[in-house]
Amino acid sequence: MLKIVVCVSGGGTNLQAIIDGVAQGAITNTQIVKVISNNQGAYALTRARNAGIQAVCIAPKEYADREAFNQAFLQEIDQAQPDLIVLAGFLVKIPVQLIRSYGNRIINIHPSLLPSFCGTGYYGLKVHEAALARGVKITGATVHFVDEGMDTGPIIMQKAVAVKEGDTPEILQKRVMEEAEWLLLPWCINLIACGKVKVENGQVLVSE
Ligand code: GAR
Repeated sequence: MLKIVVCVSGGGTNLQAIIDGVAQGAITNTQIVKVISNNQGAYALTRARNAGIQAVCIAPKEYADREAFNQAFLQEIDQAQPDLIVLAGFLVKIPVQLIRSYGNRIINIHPSLLPSFCGTGYYGLKVHEAALARGVKITGATVHFVDEGMDTGPIIMQKAVAVKEGDTPEILQKRVMEEAEWLLLPWCINLIACGKVKVENGQVLVSE
């Protein structure tokens, strides 16, 4: 059984896709053991509690400094003893210590086709604003392992989504979620739970 901790900051639609995937069998052999948010008001916490999953908030502003927050966050993760940490719209910089302790056991979903529109300042709607400003005709979403860089870790899976005339950032975000994110993240978790994903020389190999 793959024990996963899901980290969230906002609405939690990707978390919901994971909860539904586990409930409906699209994600096999997986248990969501805890949901952690940095934001008390995140609707994702309500989604977790509605599904009977332990949901906790660790807010940076409640700690004296970043180091104290990082320590509390690490402790919360370690207590759950996860096999995999899933960043599903988690907008906090992950402490390096966590990345080192959980090498190739942290995955993130990013709402573009990496390496486009990523790095500092590119999150949520901002990614879609940038894609529209650049005039790309195709965008999408990427699930990747987290390394010490920003959105630079080994790519597990990507899905392309068309940009259409008249798109606003909100319309494009919704299409990318519906056509890519909510499918990709459950697929990737299931592949990992089935032992089909390995990383070799910084590249992801997926077996059938
Ligand atoms: C998603 O679009 C996710 O890809 C993005 O935040 C949104 C969270 O939505 N993540 C990033 O931008 C990370 N850099 P959700 O809370 O409804 O799942």
